[in-house]
Amino acid sequence: MIKFVHIKKILVTGGAGYIGSHACVELLNSGYKVIVIDNLSNSNEESIKRVQKITKKKIQFVKADLLDKEALLYVFEKNNIDAVIHFAGLKAVGESEEKPLLYYQNNVIGTINLCQAMIQHNVKNIVFSSSATVYGSCENLPINENSKTAPKNTYGRTKLIIENFLEDIKKSDHDWGIQILRYFNPVGAHDSGLIGEDPKGVPNNLMPYVAQVALGSLEIIPVYGNDYSTKDGTGVRDYIHVVDLAKGHIKALENIAKNSGYSVLNLGTGRGYSVIEIIDTFKKVSGVDIPYKVTERRKGDVAASYANVTLAQKELDWIAEKSLEKMCEDTWNWQKNNPNGYV
Ligand code: NAD
Ligand code: UD1
Repeated sequence: MIKFVHIKKILVTGGAGYIGSHACVELLNSGYKVIVIDNLSNSNEESIKRVQKITKKKIQFVKADLLDKEALLYVFEKNNIDAVIHFAGLKAVGESEEKPLLYYQNNVIGTINLCQAMIQHNVKNIVFSSSATVYGSCENLPINENSKTAPKNTYGRTKLIIENFLEDIKKSDHDWGIQILRYFNPVGAHDSGLIGEDPKGVPNNLMPYVAQVALGSLEIIPVYGNDYSTKDGTGVRDYIHVVDLAKGHIKALENIAKNSGYSVLNLGTGRGYSVIEIIDTFKKVSGVDIPYKVTERRKGDVAASYANVTLAQKELDWIAEKSLEKMCEDTWNWQKNNPNGYV
Protein backbone atom coordinates (compact mmCIF):
# COMPACT_ATOMS: atom_id res chain seq x y z
CA MET A 1 0.00 0.00 0.00
CA ILE A 2 1.41 3.42 -0.93
CA LYS A 3 1.72 5.97 1.87
CA PHE A 4 3.70 9.12 2.55
CA VAL A 5 5.09 9.45 6.05
CA HIS A 6 7.78 11.84 7.07
CA ILE A 7 10.28 9.83 9.07
CA LYS A 8 12.60 12.03 11.12
CA LYS A 9 13.35 10.54 14.51
CA ILE A 10 14.53 6.96 14.77
CA LEU A 11 14.73 4.80 17.85
CA VAL A 12 17.69 2.46 17.40
CA THR A 13 17.62 -0.48 19.80
CA GLY A 14 21.04 -2.07 20.27
CA GLY A 15 22.62 1.03 18.74
CA ALA A 16 25.81 0.71 20.79
CA GLY A 17 26.54 -2.69 19.20
CA TYR A 18 28.53 -3.60 16.12
CA ILE A 19 25.97 -3.15 13.34
CA GLY A 20 23.84 -0.63 15.27
CA SER A 21 26.74 1.80 15.72
CA HIS A 22 27.51 1.73 11.98
CA ALA A 23 23.83 2.27 11.23
CA CYS A 24 23.80 5.28 13.59
CA VAL A 25 26.61 6.87 11.54
CA GLU A 26 24.64 6.46 8.33
CA LEU A 27 21.41 7.69 9.95
CA LEU A 28 23.04 10.83 11.33
CA ASN A 29 24.84 11.47 8.03
CA SER A 30 21.48 11.17 6.26
CA GLY A 31 19.93 13.82 8.52
CA TYR A 32 17.86 11.63 10.86
CA LYS A 33 17.63 12.29 14.59
CA VAL A 34 18.73 9.26 16.57
CA ILE A 35 17.87 7.94 19.98
CA VAL A 36 19.57 4.74 21.10
CA ILE A 37 18.37 2.25 23.71
CA ASP A 38 20.94 -0.32 24.73
CA ASN A 39 21.56 -2.23 27.96
CA LEU A 40 25.28 -2.49 27.05
CA SER A 41 25.20 -6.25 27.74
CA ASN A 42 27.39 -6.81 24.68
CA SER A 43 28.74 -3.34 23.97
CA ASN A 44 30.36 -0.24 25.36
CA GLU A 45 29.04 3.31 25.52
CA GLU A 46 32.34 4.40 23.99
CA SER A 47 30.95 3.32 20.59
CA ILE A 48 28.27 6.00 20.89
CA LYS A 49 30.91 8.64 21.66
CA ARG A 50 32.89 7.52 18.63
CA VAL A 51 29.84 7.71 16.37
CA GLN A 52 29.35 11.30 17.55
CA LYS A 53 33.01 11.99 16.83
CA ILE A 54 32.74 10.60 13.29
CA THR A 55 29.53 12.45 12.44
CA LYS A 56 29.97 15.53 14.63
CA LYS A 57 26.32 15.03 15.55
CA LYS A 58 24.56 14.18 18.77
CA ILE A 59 22.92 10.90 19.74
CA GLN A 60 20.45 10.67 22.59
CA PHE A 61 21.53 7.61 24.55
CA VAL A 62 19.35 5.73 27.04
CA LYS A 63 20.87 2.83 28.94
CA ALA A 64 17.88 0.54 29.29
CA ASP A 65 16.81 -3.03 28.78
CA LEU A 66 13.99 -4.03 26.45
CA LEU A 67 12.76 -6.25 29.24
CA ASP A 68 12.11 -3.10 31.29
CA LYS A 69 8.66 -2.14 29.99
CA GLU A 70 8.43 1.06 31.99
CA ALA A 71 11.73 2.38 30.69
CA LEU A 72 10.62 1.61 27.15
CA LEU A 73 7.27 3.36 27.55
CA TYR A 74 9.02 6.37 29.06
CA VAL A 75 11.27 6.68 26.01
CA PHE A 76 8.27 6.63 23.66
CA GLU A 77 6.37 9.05 25.88
CA LYS A 78 9.15 11.62 25.94
CA ASN A 79 10.12 11.46 22.28
CA ASN A 80 8.30 11.78 19.00
CA ILE A 81 9.58 8.59 17.48
CA ASP A 82 8.65 7.92 13.86
CA ALA A 83 10.30 4.55 13.30
CA VAL A 84 12.35 1.90 15.05
CA ILE A 85 15.39 0.01 13.83
CA HIS A 86 15.58 -3.01 16.08
CA PHE A 87 19.08 -4.45 16.46
CA ALA A 88 19.00 -5.33 20.16
CA GLY A 89 19.33 -9.02 20.77
CA LEU A 90 21.66 -11.78 21.85
CA LYS A 91 23.41 -13.46 18.93
CA ALA A 92 25.83 -16.18 20.04
CA VAL A 93 24.72 -19.50 18.56
CA GLY A 94 26.59 -21.70 21.07
CA GLU A 95 25.31 -19.74 24.06
CA SER A 96 21.76 -19.93 22.70
CA GLU A 97 21.96 -23.73 22.80
CA GLU A 98 23.22 -23.68 26.38
CA LYS A 99 20.78 -21.05 27.63
CA PRO A 100 17.68 -21.27 25.44
CA LEU A 101 15.37 -19.47 27.86
CA LEU A 102 17.73 -16.53 28.11
CA TYR A 103 17.52 -16.20 24.32
CA TYR A 104 13.73 -16.58 24.14
CA GLN A 105 13.31 -14.11 26.96
CA ASN A 106 15.76 -11.51 25.72
CA ASN A 107 15.05 -11.70 21.99
CA VAL A 108 11.40 -12.71 21.80
CA ILE A 109 9.96 -11.12 24.94
CA GLY A 110 12.18 -8.05 24.43
CA THR A 111 10.70 -7.59 20.94
CA ILE A 112 7.15 -8.15 22.18
CA ASN A 113 7.68 -5.42 24.80
CA LEU A 114 9.03 -3.13 22.10
CA CYS A 115 6.06 -3.74 19.80
CA GLN A 116 3.60 -3.20 22.65
CA ALA A 117 5.20 0.15 23.47
CA MET A 118 5.11 1.04 19.75
CA ILE A 119 1.41 0.21 19.53
CA GLN A 120 0.68 2.22 22.67
CA HIS A 121 2.37 5.24 21.10
CA ASN A 122 1.11 4.70 17.58
CA VAL A 123 4.54 4.07 16.07
CA LYS A 124 4.07 1.56 13.27
CA ASN A 125 7.31 1.48 11.33
CA ILE A 126 10.00 -1.04 12.12
CA VAL A 127 13.12 -2.48 10.52
CA PHE A 128 14.14 -5.76 12.13
CA SER A 129 17.56 -7.46 12.14
CA SER A 130 17.02 -11.04 11.18
CA SER A 131 19.65 -13.47 10.01
CA ALA A 132 20.46 -15.90 7.22
CA THR A 133 20.62 -18.43 10.02
CA VAL A 134 16.80 -18.78 9.70
CA TYR A 135 17.36 -20.76 6.49
CA GLY A 136 19.17 -23.55 8.31
CA SER A 137 20.40 -26.12 5.86
CA CYS A 138 20.94 -23.96 2.71
CA GLU A 139 20.12 -26.70 0.18
CA ASN A 140 19.56 -24.53 -2.88
CA LEU A 141 22.08 -21.81 -3.61
CA PRO A 142 21.94 -18.90 -3.91
CA ILE A 143 19.36 -18.60 -1.14
CA ASN A 144 16.31 -16.50 -1.96
CA GLU A 145 13.69 -15.20 0.43
CA ASN A 146 11.28 -18.01 -0.45
CA SER A 147 13.77 -20.72 0.46
CA LYS A 148 12.67 -23.02 3.24
CA THR A 149 13.23 -21.67 6.76
CA ALA A 150 14.38 -24.29 9.24
CA PRO A 151 16.82 -22.80 11.73
CA LYS A 152 19.14 -25.33 13.31
CA ASN A 153 19.72 -23.49 16.57
CA THR A 154 17.84 -21.63 19.29
CA TYR A 155 19.20 -18.26 18.22
CA GLY A 156 17.83 -18.79 14.71
CA ARG A 157 14.48 -19.92 16.08
CA THR A 158 14.15 -16.72 18.12
CA LYS A 159 14.66 -14.75 14.90
CA LEU A 160 12.05 -16.74 13.01
CA ILE A 161 9.49 -16.45 15.82
CA ILE A 162 9.94 -12.67 15.78
CA GLU A 163 9.59 -12.56 11.97
CA ASN A 164 6.37 -14.55 12.29
CA PHE A 165 4.72 -12.43 14.94
CA LEU A 166 5.69 -9.24 13.15
CA GLU A 167 3.88 -10.61 10.11
CA ASP A 168 0.84 -11.30 12.30
CA ILE A 169 0.94 -7.73 13.61
CA LYS A 170 0.94 -6.50 10.04
CA LYS A 171 -2.07 -8.70 9.21
CA SER A 172 -3.94 -7.27 12.18
CA ASP A 173 -3.28 -3.65 11.21
CA HIS A 174 -2.37 -2.64 7.68
CA ASP A 175 -0.91 0.69 8.71
CA TRP A 176 2.27 -1.06 9.81
CA GLY A 177 5.41 -0.88 7.70
CA ILE A 178 7.65 -3.82 8.56
CA GLN A 179 10.95 -4.55 6.92
CA ILE A 180 12.67 -7.79 7.86
CA LEU A 181 16.33 -7.82 6.86
CA ARG A 182 18.10 -11.18 6.81
CA TYR A 183 21.79 -10.41 7.07
CA PHE A 184 24.37 -12.81 5.72
CA ASN A 185 27.88 -12.40 7.26
CA PRO A 186 28.58 -8.81 8.33
CA VAL A 187 32.29 -7.98 8.58
CA GLY A 188 34.57 -4.94 8.30
CA ALA A 189 34.47 -1.63 10.10
CA HIS A 190 34.02 2.07 9.49
CA ASP A 191 37.00 3.36 7.53
CA SER A 192 37.80 5.95 10.21
CA GLY A 193 39.00 2.99 12.31
CA LEU A 194 36.98 4.42 15.21
CA ILE A 195 34.18 1.87 15.35
CA GLY A 196 34.18 -1.84 14.60
CA GLU A 197 33.37 -5.28 15.93
CA ASP A 198 34.42 -5.79 19.54
CA PRO A 199 33.62 -9.37 20.52
CA LYS A 200 33.86 -10.30 24.19
CA GLY A 201 36.42 -13.07 24.79
CA VAL A 202 37.57 -15.37 22.01
CA PRO A 203 35.61 -14.58 18.83
CA ASN A 204 33.22 -17.21 17.44
CA ASN A 205 33.19 -15.76 13.96
CA LEU A 206 35.89 -16.06 11.36
CA MET A 207 36.79 -12.46 10.49
CA PRO A 208 37.44 -11.18 14.05
CA TYR A 209 39.37 -14.39 14.74
CA VAL A 210 41.59 -13.80 11.70
CA ALA A 211 42.14 -10.18 12.78
CA GLN A 212 43.21 -11.22 16.27
CA VAL A 213 45.62 -13.82 14.90
CA ALA A 214 47.09 -11.17 12.58
CA LEU A 215 47.54 -8.91 15.58
CA GLY A 216 49.19 -11.66 17.60
CA SER A 217 46.59 -11.79 20.39
CA LEU A 218 45.53 -15.27 19.22
CA GLU A 219 47.98 -17.86 17.99
CA ILE A 220 46.49 -19.76 15.10
CA ILE A 221 43.19 -19.96 13.22
CA PRO A 222 41.33 -23.24 13.51
CA VAL A 223 39.87 -23.91 10.05
CA TYR A 224 36.76 -25.93 10.71
CA GLY A 225 37.05 -28.63 8.07
CA ASN A 226 38.47 -28.76 4.55
CA ASP A 227 36.42 -31.67 3.27
CA TYR A 228 33.24 -29.80 2.26
CA SER A 229 32.16 -29.92 -1.36
CA THR A 230 33.24 -26.34 -2.00
CA LYS A 231 35.94 -24.75 -4.18
CA ASP A 232 38.79 -25.61 -1.77
CA GLY A 233 36.96 -27.80 0.76
CA THR A 234 36.50 -25.04 3.37
CA GLY A 235 33.21 -23.34 4.27
CA VAL A 236 31.87 -20.68 1.92
CA ARG A 237 29.94 -17.64 3.14
CA ASP A 238 28.52 -14.38 1.82
CA TYR A 239 30.53 -11.70 3.68
CA ILE A 240 29.11 -8.19 3.53
CA HIS A 241 30.80 -4.97 4.60
CA VAL A 242 29.03 -3.56 7.67
CA VAL A 243 28.88 -0.07 6.09
CA ASP A 244 27.08 -1.47 3.03
CA LEU A 245 24.75 -3.26 5.42
CA ALA A 246 24.15 -0.06 7.43
CA LYS A 247 23.29 1.79 4.23
CA GLY A 248 20.73 -0.90 3.46
CA HIS A 249 18.89 0.20 6.61
CA ILE A 250 18.58 3.76 5.35
CA LYS A 251 17.08 2.43 2.14
CA ALA A 252 14.73 0.23 4.18
CA LEU A 253 13.52 3.29 6.12
CA GLU A 254 12.96 5.21 2.90
CA ASN A 255 10.97 2.26 1.62
CA ILE A 256 8.82 2.11 4.74
CA ALA A 257 8.12 5.84 4.47
CA LYS A 258 6.61 5.23 1.04
CA ASN A 259 4.97 1.83 1.44
CA SER A 260 3.29 0.17 4.33
CA GLY A 261 3.54 -3.60 4.18
CA TYR A 262 5.59 -6.51 5.37
CA SER A 263 8.59 -7.62 3.42
CA VAL A 264 11.56 -9.88 3.93
CA LEU A 265 14.84 -9.15 2.21
CA ASN A 266 18.24 -10.79 2.10
CA LEU A 267 21.16 -8.43 2.63
CA GLY A 268 24.38 -9.88 1.28
CA THR A 269 26.63 -9.44 -1.73
CA GLY A 270 25.48 -12.57 -3.54
CA ARG A 271 29.09 -13.85 -3.64
CA GLY A 272 30.59 -16.63 -1.59
CA TYR A 273 34.17 -16.75 -0.32
CA SER A 274 35.90 -19.69 1.35
CA VAL A 275 37.73 -19.63 4.68
CA ILE A 276 41.05 -19.94 2.84
CA GLU A 277 40.16 -17.02 0.54
CA ILE A 278 39.43 -14.89 3.59
CA ILE A 279 42.74 -15.78 5.23
CA ASP A 280 44.70 -15.21 2.00
CA THR A 281 43.07 -11.84 1.35
CA PHE A 282 43.63 -10.70 4.92
CA LYS A 283 47.27 -11.77 4.65
CA LYS A 284 47.64 -9.76 1.44
CA VAL A 285 46.10 -6.53 2.74
CA SER A 286 47.79 -6.65 6.15
CA GLY A 287 51.19 -7.89 5.01
CA VAL A 288 51.20 -10.12 8.10
CA ASP A 289 51.61 -13.89 8.11
CA ILE A 290 48.47 -15.58 9.43
CA PRO A 291 48.97 -19.19 10.52
CA TYR A 292 46.08 -21.67 10.42
CA LYS A 293 45.48 -25.35 10.99
CA VAL A 294 42.68 -27.51 9.71
CA THR A 295 40.58 -29.05 12.48
CA GLU A 296 37.31 -30.98 12.73
CA ARG A 297 34.16 -29.47 11.24
CA ARG A 298 32.22 -27.23 13.65
CA LYS A 299 28.88 -28.72 14.69
CA GLY A 300 25.93 -27.07 12.96
CA ASP A 301 27.98 -25.56 10.10
CA VAL A 302 26.84 -25.78 6.50
CA ALA A 303 29.21 -26.13 3.55
CA ALA A 304 28.10 -22.99 1.74
CA SER A 305 25.69 -20.12 2.16
CA TYR A 306 25.26 -17.11 -0.08
CA ALA A 307 22.35 -14.90 -0.95
CA ASN A 308 20.26 -14.16 -3.94
CA VAL A 309 20.08 -10.38 -3.52
CA THR A 310 17.92 -9.41 -6.50
CA LEU A 311 14.87 -8.64 -4.37
CA ALA A 312 16.75 -6.18 -2.11
CA GLN A 313 18.25 -4.55 -5.21
CA LYS A 314 14.79 -4.14 -6.71
CA GLU A 315 12.81 -3.14 -3.62
CA LEU A 316 15.40 -0.95 -1.96
CA ASP A 317 17.45 0.19 -4.94
CA TRP A 318 20.44 -0.94 -2.90
CA ILE A 319 23.50 -2.98 -3.65
CA ALA A 320 26.52 -3.94 -1.55
CA GLU A 321 29.50 -2.22 -3.13
CA LYS A 322 32.56 -2.92 -1.02
CA SER A 323 35.04 -5.64 -2.02
CA LEU A 324 36.50 -8.42 0.10
CA GLU A 325 39.82 -6.51 0.10
CA LYS A 326 38.04 -3.48 1.58
CA MET A 327 36.32 -5.66 4.20
CA CYS A 328 39.70 -7.06 5.29
CA GLU A 329 41.45 -3.68 5.08
CA ASP A 330 38.87 -1.98 7.30
CA THR A 331 38.79 -4.86 9.79
CA TRP A 332 42.58 -4.66 10.05
CA ASN A 333 42.57 -0.88 10.40
CA TRP A 334 40.04 -1.11 13.27
CA GLN A 335 41.88 -4.00 14.96
CA LYS A 336 45.31 -2.33 14.74
CA ASN A 337 44.03 0.96 16.10
CA ASN A 338 41.99 -0.69 18.86
CA PRO A 339 43.89 -3.83 19.91
CA ASN A 340 41.65 -4.17 22.97
CA GLY A 341 38.46 -2.99 21.31
CA TYR A 342 36.71 -0.13 23.12
CA VAL A 343 38.32 -0.86 26.48
P1 NAD B 1 25.85 -6.72 19.03
O1 NAD B 1 25.81 -7.69 20.15
O2 NAD B 1 27.12 -6.02 18.75
O3 NAD B 1 24.69 -5.64 19.21
C1 NAD B 1 23.47 -5.93 19.84
C2 NAD B 1 23.24 -4.86 20.89
O4 NAD B 1 22.01 -5.11 21.55
C3 NAD B 1 24.33 -4.83 21.98
O5 NAD B 1 24.83 -3.52 22.08
C4 NAD B 1 23.62 -5.28 23.24
O6 NAD B 1 24.16 -4.67 24.38
C5 NAD B 1 22.20 -4.86 22.95
N1 NAD B 1 21.16 -5.65 23.64
C6 NAD B 1 21.02 -7.00 23.67
N2 NAD B 1 19.93 -7.33 24.38
C7 NAD B 1 19.36 -6.18 24.80
C8 NAD B 1 18.21 -5.87 25.58
N3 NAD B 1 17.42 -6.82 26.09
N4 NAD B 1 17.93 -4.57 25.81
C9 NAD B 1 18.73 -3.59 25.33
N5 NAD B 1 19.82 -3.82 24.60
C10 NAD B 1 20.14 -5.10 24.33
O7 NAD B 1 25.35 -7.51 17.73
P2 NAD B 1 25.39 -7.06 16.21
O8 NAD B 1 26.37 -7.91 15.52
O9 NAD B 1 25.48 -5.60 16.10
O10 NAD B 1 23.94 -7.55 15.76
C11 NAD B 1 22.83 -6.70 15.75
C12 NAD B 1 21.61 -7.51 15.36
O11 NAD B 1 21.82 -8.14 14.11
C13 NAD B 1 21.29 -8.63 16.36
O12 NAD B 1 19.89 -8.71 16.49
C14 NAD B 1 21.82 -9.87 15.67
O13 NAD B 1 21.13 -11.01 16.05
C15 NAD B 1 21.58 -9.54 14.20
N6 NAD B 1 22.51 -10.24 13.30
C16 NAD B 1 23.85 -10.11 13.50
C17 NAD B 1 24.71 -10.79 12.66
C18 NAD B 1 26.20 -10.69 12.86
O14 NAD B 1 26.93 -11.54 12.35
N7 NAD B 1 26.73 -9.72 13.56
C19 NAD B 1 24.22 -11.58 11.62
C20 NAD B 1 22.84 -11.66 11.44
C21 NAD B 1 21.98 -10.97 12.29
C1 UD1 C 1 27.71 -17.91 12.31
C2 UD1 C 1 26.49 -18.42 13.04
C3 UD1 C 1 25.24 -17.84 12.39
C4 UD1 C 1 25.32 -16.30 12.34
C5 UD1 C 1 26.58 -15.94 11.55
C6 UD1 C 1 26.77 -14.47 11.38
C7 UD1 C 1 27.14 -20.66 13.83
C8 UD1 C 1 26.91 -22.12 13.70
N1 UD1 C 1 26.46 -19.87 12.96
O1 UD1 C 1 27.62 -18.35 11.01
O2 UD1 C 1 24.10 -18.22 13.09
O3 UD1 C 1 24.18 -15.78 11.67
O4 UD1 C 1 27.70 -16.49 12.27
O5 UD1 C 1 27.24 -13.88 12.53
O6 UD1 C 1 27.84 -20.20 14.70
N2 UD1 C 1 35.34 -20.71 10.67
C9 UD1 C 1 36.57 -21.30 10.84
N3 UD1 C 1 37.29 -20.98 11.94
C10 UD1 C 1 36.85 -20.11 12.89
C11 UD1 C 1 35.57 -19.52 12.72
C12 UD1 C 1 34.85 -19.86 11.60
O7 UD1 C 1 37.01 -22.08 10.00
O8 UD1 C 1 37.56 -19.88 13.89
C13 UD1 C 1 34.58 -21.01 9.44
C14 UD1 C 1 33.20 -21.60 9.67
O9 UD1 C 1 33.26 -22.99 9.71
C15 UD1 C 1 32.45 -21.06 8.44
C16 UD1 C 1 33.11 -19.71 8.15
O10 UD1 C 1 34.38 -19.77 8.80
O11 UD1 C 1 32.66 -21.90 7.33
C17 UD1 C 1 32.34 -18.54 8.71
O12 UD1 C 1 32.07 -18.77 10.09
P1 UD1 C 1 31.37 -17.66 11.01
O13 UD1 C 1 32.07 -16.38 10.84
O14 UD1 C 1 31.26 -18.23 12.37
O15 UD1 C 1 29.93 -17.48 10.35
P2 UD1 C 1 28.79 -18.57 10.04
O16 UD1 C 1 29.27 -19.95 10.23
O17 UD1 C 1 28.22 -18.25 8.72
